[in-house]
Amino acid sequence: MIQRVSELEHEPIVGKFYLVPCVKYAHGRWIPIIGPEHDDADYINVPQRHFHQDLRFLSDHEITTYLERYARIAVSCSPEQLSMTKILFASRLQHRTPVERKVKCRRSMSDFPMIISLLPAPWFEELEKAYSKQKLSCLRCPHRGMPLNGIPVKDSKVTCPGHGLQFNINTGELVSRL
Ligand code: FES
Repeated sequence: MIQRVSELEHEPIVGKFYLVPCVKYAHGRWIPIIGPEHDDADYINVPQRHFHQDLRFLSDHEITTYLERYARIAVSCSPEQLSMTKILFASRLQHRTPVERKVKCRRSMSDFPMIISLLPAPWFEELEKAYSKQKLSCLRCPHRGMPLNGIPVKDSKVTCPGHGLQFNINTGELVSRL
């Protein structure tokens, strides 16, 4: 039986297939996503509705192909760092209601962004401040509801692949990265 990625208690195993929510891009290809459709008009200045691609389930080709230019501007980072944050604008999707599909796990999830100190991202400080008193609930990020089950835990901390907030996995409290 193929396990749902939404029900993982540990990281997915590289090389193994999982049922992963996917949306259909304009060219007809199904792209694995993580978390709900949302906008980031506040703090991050991305007003368009979008999904985040689940990089654990993308091929190397897909990682380098479906790049949204706006995302690069929003976070002002290099393509390598951007690969941690790739988004899909909902307006460009043929099918925007996520559908579970069988997809192979290609890699572990990396921290977002890999080296946050390299990012000239003033929005991150504001985001942390705004959510400093909020907690993880049922392993869902309080910001946009990104699921954090199956995301690597290091030193009891889990980093949301959405926009980088970090939480103590035991207490649920936000841990500042700045
Ligand atoms: S969804 Fe934005 S930091 Fe978690």
